[in-house]
Amino acid sequence: MEGGDLVLVERTDHRLTTTTKERTMSADRGITEDQLYRIMYGSIAFEMLHAASELGVFDHLGRNPGSSTQDIATALGIAPYPCDILLTGLRGLELVLGDETRMTNAPLVEQCFVKGEDGKHLPFIHEIVNPGMSEFIDSVRQATNLGLRHFPGDGTSLYSRLESDPDKLRSLHEHLRATSEATLADLVATGALDNTRHLLDIGGGTATNAIPLANHYPDLRITLVDLENVVEAAARAIDSHGLSDRIDVLACDVFNDPLPVGADTALLAHMLPIWSPEANRELLSKVYDALPDNGQALLFDPLQNDERDGPDYAILFPAYYLTIASGRGTFYPWSTYEQWMREAGFSGFQRFEGLAVAHGLHVGTKQR
Ligand SMILES: C[S@@+](CC[C@H](N)C(=O)[O-])C[C@H]1O[C@@H](n2cnc3c(N)ncnc32)[C@H](O)[C@@H]1O
Repeated sequence: MEGGDLVLVERTDHRLTTTTKERTMSADRGITEDQLYRIMYGSIAFEMLHAASELGVFDHLGRNPGSSTQDIATALGIAPYPCDILLTGLRGLELVLGDETRMTNAPLVEQCFVKGEDGKHLPFIHEIVNPGMSEFIDSVRQATNLGLRHFPGDGTSLYSRLESDPDKLRSLHEHLRATSEATLADLVATGALDNTRHLLDIGGGTATNAIPLANHYPDLRITLVDLENVVEAAARAIDSHGLSDRIDVLACDVFNDPLPVGADTALLAHMLPIWSPEANRELLSKVYDALPDNGQALLFDPLQNDERDGPDYAILFPAYYLTIASGRGTFYPWSTYEQWMREAGFSGFQRFEGLAVAHGLHVGTKQR
């Protein structure tokens, strides 16, 4: 089955609320020396995590808690010297607990990388985020996404460039799939989709939201729009899940083509943070026009806390929009979403905050 089975799983233990950033820094002294080194050598720390996931260290320790460095080297066919470097690093980072004679995965590692799907983020970070972010300084200076230098082509966004790079496109969509798997149960739990009959999934990717939503709501029909190569991959995934009778796909550049009409709800999941305020205003106005009276727009994205100092994911990821994705987007404040929706004509706003992985849902209704 293409892309593996998608199921809607409750993962409230993975929740990062927007108001409860864990304060790892002392309030009056700021960052500690160890934390500073973890940032300075962050690329090494990331590769430790990536290697442990790819080489099977976490899976091995999940199956064989209490293994020694020597046991792991033998089981995974790694020479003693690099295995010692890797395991020492993993213990220093507290990804692995214990001493070199007897180790276990840290509980969060077991949850996210052995039982969970967070390993799907790592190729995206390794192949796309890290190479692109090496252009951050120039991108800040020139206020544009110079990280695209690492992705051949003419397009002005990462998404158009990856249309001709199927391997990196797959890594991007596996990252999105892992995000959906961690967040979608909370979207469903808001009840915002309970009365929807026909959903327009705008920038719906490879159906990572559409497939589990169609499985969860047996009477729901979905139209997914995205760029051409992406909808081709989406159609294959939908077909392999036997959902082609309820999910249609349409190649549509949402900024240059008309949006299809007929749906009563539009979902924009992880779409608006990519683009500029002007582009988002234009898009929301098109969404309004495409919806019937009483139709709803659902904006589903990570959000920063009110102090704009956390959670870490929501604070760090906007640099990816500047440097790589589009050179324009960010995680906008929720008041901005409401203002754009109001300008487009929506009203009757509802907010659902504190959802998994720093997410929130903003709903607006087309009430004439
Ligand atoms: C960050 S992904 C979000 C995918 C999906 N909604 C999700 O939540 O996982 C953004 C999506 O927008 C699509 N996209 C980018 N530019 C687009 C455009 N001009 N028209 C339609 N889709 C576009 C990308 O191909 C990608 O699938």
